[in-house]
Amino acid sequence: MPALVLLGAQWGDEGKGKATDLLGGSVDYVVRYQGGNNAGHTVVVGDQKYALHLLPSGILSPGCTPVIGNGVVVDPAVLLSELSGLQERGVDTSKLLLSGNAHLITPYHTTVDKVTERFLGKRKIGTTGRGIGPTYADKINRVGIRVQDLFDESILRQKVEAALDFKNQMLVKLYNRRAIAADQVLEELLGYADELRGFVADTTLVLNDAIDEGKVVLFEGGQGTLLDVDHGTYPFVTSSNPTAGGACTGAGVGPTKISRVIGILKAYTTRVGAGPFPTELFDEDGEALRRIGGERGVTTGRDRRCGWFDAVIARYATRVNGLTDFFLTKLDVLTGWERIPVCVAYEIDGKRVEELPYNQTDFHHAKPVYEMLPGWSEDISKAKTFEELPKNAQRYVKALEEMSGAPISAIGVGPGRTETIEINSFL
Ligand code: IMP
Repeated sequence: MPALVLLGAQWGDEGKGKATDLLGGSVDYVVRYQGGNNAGHTVVVGDQKYALHLLPSGILSPGCTPVIGNGVVVDPAVLLSELSGLQERGVDTSKLLLSGNAHLITPYHTTVDKVTERFLGKRKIGTTGRGIGPTYADKINRVGIRVQDLFDESILRQKVEAALDFKNQMLVKLYNRRAIAADQVLEELLGYADELRGFVADTTLVLNDAIDEGKVVLFEGGQGTLLDVDHGTYPFVTSSNPTAGGACTGAGVGPTKISRVIGILKAYTTRVGAGPFPTELFDEDGEALRRIGGERGVTTGRDRRCGWFDAVIARYATRVNGLTDFFLTKLDVLTGWERIPVCVAYEIDGKRVEELPYNQTDFHHAKPVYEMLPGWSEDISKAKTFEELPKNAQRYVKALEEMSGAPISAIGVGPGRTETIEINSFL
């Protein structure tokens, strides 16, 4: 039985919730493998709407075990408040499993995230301000605090003091801020220990056993391919690996165990925060995509930048993730345009370029080369099969598939949970 990776093929916010809905009750484990509460997705169950930031979407399916893998950074205050919010609404959260190796976002990480952005001024990344980058930096610098440290007070004290030694010098001397007291941080962190203890598990063992037993395991990426710290538009990226390889390191599962990698692809493009975006629109078309597509961040409430579909990016996502399928979302948002531009290549310094340039400066200079595809005006939200789509919508999907390098196996045609056309089953 399959171990599936589900990830964003663009800059995040592609609508992963739809794909999770389609897989429905057949998934036994939903695993987050990277990122933290910088992610955000809305899941609709019946007439209830839930906005999740840190918890895997599987928390809402009764038969499913949600797992927070070692590659995730966990803000314990956010985790506990998300859990209690769900409990108040009658959701059973007792099955959650949390890796003891996941790193903790502490109050000093959030402070450092915010002051660093302020310090960068107009060169800022536009982070979500949740302490994600500084927590991963500490992990790589080997001065991070892990979930398991909460259960050994003396180790926790040593680690917090060591981390703060340096950070306080920086906060006070460079950023002109007040020092953070180790005792205060310790008291706060130790206050979470009892509530979290019951969730902690050897998640790599659990997941490998589950795959060996033939269970369906879904690895759910946060953010998207172009926000990957290695393969994205560095430095305008998040600090982890949303790409498919991240599922292996961030959950402790080998690549040979992964059977399918599904890229979620919006029928147009959006991005939040700063950084290059070749097909970005600054006119009323961009405004219309934002309005019709409801393009406002679940986590930050910021308006998303909007632009036409970029096939260069989609091809790149196929390459760096080894995508086996695409799930095309929000096709309905494009209904009503007479002609829809699709970016098929870039022009960089007068030359046509077919692949994503690996040089940052080139990417900043890339101008989209557009091909015009005929639009449609019919309501597509009731279509249940590919053949029920208007001819021009079919043509649009087929053109995207050819340009993007992997089959489009499902299409989102409306905001409702069931407004999806399934072409090839993911299971
Ligand atoms: P950070 O992840 O908070 O460090 O922010 C780094 C960059 O990633 C910023 O441009 C954010 O706007 C972007 N980002 C982080 N999480 C998401 C997400 O879930 N969707 C889209 N963009 C995101």
